[in-house]
Amino acid sequence: MILLGVNLDHVATLRQVRGRTTWYPDILEQVKNVISGGANQITVHLREDRRHIQDEDLFEIKKYLVKNKLKNKVSLNLEMACTSEMCKIALKLKPDWVCLVPEKRKELTTEGGLDVFCNKVKVRRFVSKLSRTGIRVSLFVDPVIRQMQASKECGADAVELHTGKYCLVKNKSTEFERLKKSAIKAHSIGLLVHAGHGLDFFTTKKIAKLPHLREVNIGHFLICDALNGGLKASVKKMKSILR
Ligand code: PXP
Repeated sequence: MILLGVNLDHVATLRQVRGRTTWYPDILEQVKNVISGGANQITVHLREDRRHIQDEDLFEIKKYLVKNKLKNKVSLNLEMACTSEMCKIALKLKPDWVCLVPEKRKELTTEGGLDVFCNKVKVRRFVSKLSRTGIRVSLFVDPVIRQMQASKECGADAVELHTGKYCLVKNKSTEFERLKKSAIKAHSIGLLVHAGHGLDFFTTKKIAKLPHLREVNIGHFLICDALNGGLKASVKKMKSILR
């Protein structure tokens, strides 16, 4: 069974657009919802510009998982850039996993993978700092063979293969082959294989066929799809109040 990490960044986006003046949406309510839906992991990306997830969200989620004895069932995965500020926060939070990602201030979302091959010294330093405290580390990389080898050399536990391009291109077979070759290579050198970015029901069905796939992390689509299941019920409830 492939593990599902649910990325809650965009629950926080909806809260932050009103400058945090509203009590809704409540991140912990959504943590409860995704866990009762069967999620194996809560994923959150603390960005340098704090556009969605805030520092206190991380600690509240962790506290909730510990308090409700969910730590062995549901893991916490912190996505973050390789900066000393983020490293300090991760060491304090002690999530189960850290996924190191590249970050550009003006990007709409994480646009490409981390160039581990060209930044081995820096990445190795961050991986080792985090690993020493028992945090497992994955590196978010494009499906390129040399990035698998470099990730292994940096001491990572896993690679998260960037599926963004696969999800966007029309002709998916070439991109699927790149993902497949990377997954096989990563597994052969002892790395766990994760995947994520841009996935929806259709693309996830295909990506789930990747060899050795252990985990996927999905956010934006799930939050959007929840509108289909939930907006009708919310309008009905509001109408009943008006009646
Ligand atoms: N995995 C990583 C490493 C990411 O940076 C993101 C986006 O924050 C995701 C998965 C989830 O992507 P999406 O929101 O497109 O499902």
